[in-house]
Amino acid sequence: MGKKKIYITRNIPAHLIAPYENEFDISMWESETTPVPRDVLFQEAKKADGVICLLTEKMDAEFFQANDHLEIVANNAVGYDNVDIAAAQKYGITITNTPDVLTETTADLAFTLLMATARRIVEASKTIEENKWGDWSPFTLAGADVYGKTLGIVGMGRIGEAVARRANGFQMDVLYHNRSRKKEVEAELNLSYANFDELLAQSDFVLSLVPLSEATEKMFDEDAFARMKSSAIFINVSRGGVVDEAALYDALKNGTIRAAGLDVFEKEPISADHPFVRLDNAVLLPHIGSASVETREAMLNLCLKNVSAVLRGGAPVTEVTE
Ligand code: GLV
Repeated sequence: MGKKKIYITRNIPAHLIAPYENEFDISMWESETTPVPRDVLFQEAKKADGVICLLTEKMDAEFFQANDHLEIVANNAVGYDNVDIAAAQKYGITITNTPDVLTETTADLAFTLLMATARRIVEASKTIEENKWGDWSPFTLAGADVYGKTLGIVGMGRIGEAVARRANGFQMDVLYHNRSRKKEVEAELNLSYANFDELLAQSDFVLSLVPLSEATEKMFDEDAFARMKSSAIFINVSRGGVVDEAALYDALKNGTIRAAGLDVFEKEPISADHPFVRLDNAVLLPHIGSASVETREAMLNLCLKNVSAVLRGGAPVTEVTE
């Protein structure tokens, strides 16, 4: 029997695949930075036994129907809203994601963005780049304190817990809202459970860590922003689809809320002509939540572990089951 075939939808570093090359026939899309065209993905998947894909690929019912021979698709992200899980399950195809390995790195980024937005770091840095640093004055570039404020976390999974640990260090009061209450975590991390509306009304910072699903789509809408304090800062590091972006734009423009820090957008990538770019009170990042070299390598390693385990006839490490 020939070697089993793995197709990877991006060009990834050779040292990551080297340990698997004797055992598997591994091929990759040629580019490190540009997604594989859909027709190439379909052609390559046809020849493969397992696929490692990124969140830029839409792994929908059409894909799984055309590639029902696949044993596994490993999604190189913790979020898997790009994968039609039910369709994969229909054909008995295992789906895996990359939880745990990115938790601390993503929590670091969430907190970085929260602080950068509160203290107007990007705007402040721009004043120097644009040669606009005038004389020191009491309220120039004065932002909001983080220390001692109330943080409301929507979506309390592993990343939420990691952010709450950081918030404890800043003596913040932490509220959370989640599908299910987590009483042990509440006790361990000194969290208070709140319903969605209470959380919105009481928080100085509202952080979205909620996965995108039918239930969460556009949950941060006009009504949600209207319920927040006018001094509130909204941070999103989960998925852009959980926000009604037009409503957020209006809320930022009209002073319904103070500012927003966004790492994710409804349609990515956004370009410089996106309306958010014109706002001084929005800090925008290009979806870099898990982007440290260590973590990005750990995510790809986990995908390779999952694919190799399943292709050897074993159990995946981090299967998505829903
Ligand atoms: C990135 O957004 C991820 O879900 O891992």
